[in-house]
Amino acid sequence: MHKPVALITGASTGIGYEMAKIFAARGYDLIVVARTEKHLKNLHKHLSPLVTVTDIAMDLSAPGAGAKLFAKTKKLKLEVDVLVNNAGFGTNGEFVSLDLKRELQETDLNIRVLTELCHLYGAEMVKRKAGKILNVASTAAFQPGPYMSVYYATKAYVLSFSEGLYEELKKKGVQVSVLCPGATVTEFAETAGMGKSRLFTSKLLKPATAEEVAIYGVNKFLKGKTIIIHGLVNKLLVQGNRISARALVRKIAAHLNLQRR
Ligand SMILES: NC(=O)c1ccc[n+]([C@@H]2O[C@H](COP(=O)([O-])OP(=O)(O)OC[C@H]3O[C@@H](n4cnc5c(N)ncnc54)[C@H](OP(=O)(O)O)[C@@H]3O)[C@@H](O)[C@H]2O)c1
Repeated sequence: MHKPVALITGASTGIGYEMAKIFAARGYDLIVVARTEKHLKNLHKHLSPLVTVTDIAMDLSAPGAGAKLFAKTKKLKLEVDVLVNNAGFGTNGEFVSLDLKRELQETDLNIRVLTELCHLYGAEMVKRKAGKILNVASTAAFQPGPYMSVYYATKAYVLSFSEGLYEELKKKGVQVSVLCPGATVTEFAETAGMGKSRLFTSKLLKPATAEEVAIYGVNKFLKGKTIIIHGLVNKLLVQGNRISARALVRKIAAHLNLQRR
């Protein structure tokens, strides 16, 4: 019997790592992708021996990474039933003072490779008239974010692109969903250098755990929900954005992204 296969990018830590465990528990074999091989290996300890896991250690922000990953899974004759584009990172600070090379790596990872993988695996899914894609955006997708301008813009792209694809592919038997977590305790804040920001230290916005976000996200995804926002406060903030003046929304985002002194 064909066991479904889930390909998860950024599965070595955080939300992706937790999603990998959930898909495995739900009977999927896994293809897990990230740069740090030893973290991917660590995941195996938490999985049943009945799950076949293929580790692919690679830098997805490198040019041609999407095509290289696609070619590898083809060579291994692995058919991807579920594609989870989760790998991503943020940067915090004044845009013109940040390292441009890193800002461009951020757009390469958060946007370019996600687009490439949706195209390559999406076309195969359309041919089979079956398949599901889950793209990980953020509540950052719903407004501009001063001091994280590139990150918020990349996530706005992921949300808009995923909604567009959803409409195109639903008639072809392929589901596209987008997960929008709010602040979550993972390595994200440290990588972005914003552990002391109001966003990650506020009592009201108390960050979720990666496990909570992953359980909620995978559950809603497998039930077919399109835009998946984790947490009541996050849902209220997203709705609040819609009815608030854009200038006010920008100022609040700036306030949250700034580091506490
Ligand atoms: N945590 C939050 O507050 C939050 C909120 C909203 C949305 N998100 C989104 O959730 C997703 C997962 O983030 P997380 O919070 O779980 O953070 P995380 O713990 O830092 O996980 C990021 C994952 O992406 C992988 N990755 C990073 N750069 C990569 C590269 N160049 N090539 C391949 N893999 C790479 C990392 O593994 P390696 O380092 O081993 O490569 C890791 O597995 C991201 O898209 C993030 O934007 C996070």
